[in-house]
Amino acid sequence: MQPFKFIKQIAFIFISMLSLTTIATAQKSVSMVVDGFHPSTVISKHIYGHFSEHLGRCIYDGFWVSDTSTIVKKDRIRLDIVAALKKIQIPNLRWPGGCFADEYHWRDGIGVRSQRPKMINTNWGNVTEDNSFGTHEFLELCSLLNCEPYITANVGSGTVEEMSKWVEYLNFDGLSPMTTIRKQNGRVEPWKVKFWGVGNESWGCGGNMTPDYYADQYKRYATFAKNYPGARLNKIAAGPNGSDYNWTETMMKKVSANQMWGIALHHYTVPRTWQDKGSATAFDEAEYFTTMQKCLEMEELVTRHSTIMDRYDPAKRVALVVDEWGIWTNVEPGTNPGFLYQQNSLRDAMVAATTLNIFNNHSDRVRMANLAQTINVLQALILTQGAKMLLTPTYHVFDLFKVHQEAKLLPLQFSSPDFVSGKQKIPALNVSASKDSNGVVHMTLVNLDPSNKISLRTTLNAINWTKVEGQVLSSAKITDVNTFEKPNLIKPVAFSGAKKEGAELVVDLPAQSLVLLTIY
Ligand code: AHR
Repeated sequence: MQPFKFIKQIAFIFISMLSLTTIATAQKSVSMVVDGFHPSTVISKHIYGHFSEHLGRCIYDGFWVSDTSTIVKKDRIRLDIVAALKKIQIPNLRWPGGCFADEYHWRDGIGVRSQRPKMINTNWGNVTEDNSFGTHEFLELCSLLNCEPYITANVGSGTVEEMSKWVEYLNFDGLSPMTTIRKQNGRVEPWKVKFWGVGNESWGCGGNMTPDYYADQYKRYATFAKNYPGARLNKIAAGPNGSDYNWTETMMKKVSANQMWGIALHHYTVPRTWQDKGSATAFDEAEYFTTMQKCLEMEELVTRHSTIMDRYDPAKRVALVVDEWGIWTNVEPGTNPGFLYQQNSLRDAMVAATTLNIFNNHSDRVRMANLAQTINVLQALILTQGAKMLLTPTYHVFDLFKVHQEAKLLPLQFSSPDFVSGKQKIPALNVSASKDSNGVVHMTLVNLDPSNKISLRTTLNAINWTKVEGQVLSSAKITDVNTFEKPNLIKPVAFSGAKKEGAELVVDLPAQSLVLLTIY
């Protein structure tokens, strides 16, 4: 062979291989089976809960605005925010903290507002807390939202008596010292609060306790948080910090399922390090990859904590309550570092959707969760600027996922293609599926890969269906955000990439997207 011809042939083979690689990486194929024979656990709606702490602009200048503000409000509660959260069927709201809970004294937050004592919010910027938003205001907010209140009570700097009296004030329906004060403050009926947190992060800001010491304290406090007639408490213990499996082991060993409805796990997705968490809006693909890798740690955390819990509680009576989760980045430049205000990009939507798929798929044990935090703090659903408010990409994820609330989880089988970055890889695809009480199947499919779409062929066993409809949440860039100037850059739109072919569901899942399919 002439040398020139040989080189040309080699070059041709090389170029063909290159283009084949390009084609292969542009679209990846997946076969999936949805098991309609075995609808399993009911996905608790409480997995879709939220968290509102006295921190930065979440309560004050978020839910609770000045009485002179012209924003439409009831008392001082913003009603545009209430309407937005009702639309996503917010099931529960956690309050007053967070770290704030363990320095909060509830009696400072009742009675005539102008006479309430002030305090310093030492955890969050040392700002003065005027206690204008207290027990009555929070419970009024929950009633407007039509959601269950989840109160985290003070163990770190509060007494057993203080907690016990708060429960009496909230839940007792007879004549007693606390109910007399409640009535004087304008509320006759008890609220019958159900979800009751016994301290927060007791391994850290809640008192720096060892698990052994906390387990004993938990039992003491929980004993005197009484179940009044018609108002049984679901008591939730402060749980582990991420992968502190010894905390879970100790709690499960020392506290019985009769004494504890749930144990709370906290895990935040921090793109870089706790010292420099990384920007919410300026990051490259490698940092996006690392963020999703850290987000996926939730799968291992819930699996391993559940395995420990299974040993002590095989009947799964105690819930794993992930009552703080979400992405935590540096604050927006120029804002108070103690206020934790961060923007929210398409990356945040990928974090939220992936985490909610994990929770759905572990809903036999994960029966409650709370994203941190609802408005203007950390991975917020809503950002406000004076009278303006915007819905973040994360809000739209909760809007799409609400179809799973109280539906039956459907088991899935598939093998995910890889999302590769340098020498590392993570699963590009995560999915959960459920069947609602009308027999409608919903699937939430997330493709984390920013460059490659995924082509899926799905067999739905034991499911009668003729139609599929979809919505997609995506954007041109993973760093895209909604701003007050362009509040609707990222929002769900109709999806036409799913169809029925024979008995199969065929889906073209775009890169960096969340797709909700409704199959009926
Ligand atoms: O959500 C912000 C803080 O993170 C909470 O106050 C605390 O519980 C956690 O460390």
